[in-house]
Amino acid sequence: MIIAIDGPAASGKGTLGKKLAAHLNFRHLDTGLLYRAVAKAVLDAGGKPEDQQAAAAAARNFNPAWIDDPALRTDKIGSAASVVSAVPDVREALIDFQRKFAASPPGAVLDGRDIGTVIAPDAEVKIFVTAAPEERARRRCRELEGRGEKPEFEAVLADIKKRDERDANRAVAPFKAADDAHMLDTTELNADAAFAAAVALVEQVRRR
Ligand code: DC
Repeated sequence: MIIAIDGPAASGKGTLGKKLAAHLNFRHLDTGLLYRAVAKAVLDAGGKPEDQQAAAAAARNFNPAWIDDPALRTDKIGSAASVVSAVPDVREALIDFQRKFAASPPGAVLDGRDIGTVIAPDAEVKIFVTAAPEERARRRCRELEGRGEKPEFEAVLADIKKRDERDANRAVAPFKAADDAHMLDTTELNADAAFAAAVALVEQVRRR
């Protein structure tokens, strides 16, 4: 079984994907880490994320071990990832790894922006996680504060909106819900309630 979870930055899709995979004993892949790893490889080599050829070359050299780097979680890398992820050759180079991961037994949960639409259009369960931008910015601020940073709410909100727009308006694999995705708005839901709703969906599909 493949479970596709798509959603914008700080919507809670990552937490949900991890919990769901642990509950089902499935493997979990946060696909945002692939784009983050490519962005970091470009920056580490002294390049700019806007350099499409450098980004495509880094994606073709992608090494799965890269995604374990804790330094991928910063906002700077997140923004650079949003830029490199708009490059068609970057997306193309990363498809195979994601599809193989999705197909590996006993089952997989993948979260990202194009899982239900491009990577695994035949996924048995598709969940599209949303939340109001202001709530996502509050969550992001709490997360950054937890790491000892002092974020400014307005700056975090502006960054989230900019990323939403860039991800939704790119020419290749734009971020949008699959027609057959179940919508899960977590604006008013905590992580446990979102998890319970997702488990109910999975059970429903399994009974069929
Ligand atoms: O989910 P995240 O914040 O780690 O994602 C970082 C960027 O990577 C995001 O702005 C868009 C891109 N991304 C993508 O284009 N497709 C995916 N499946 C996952 C992430």
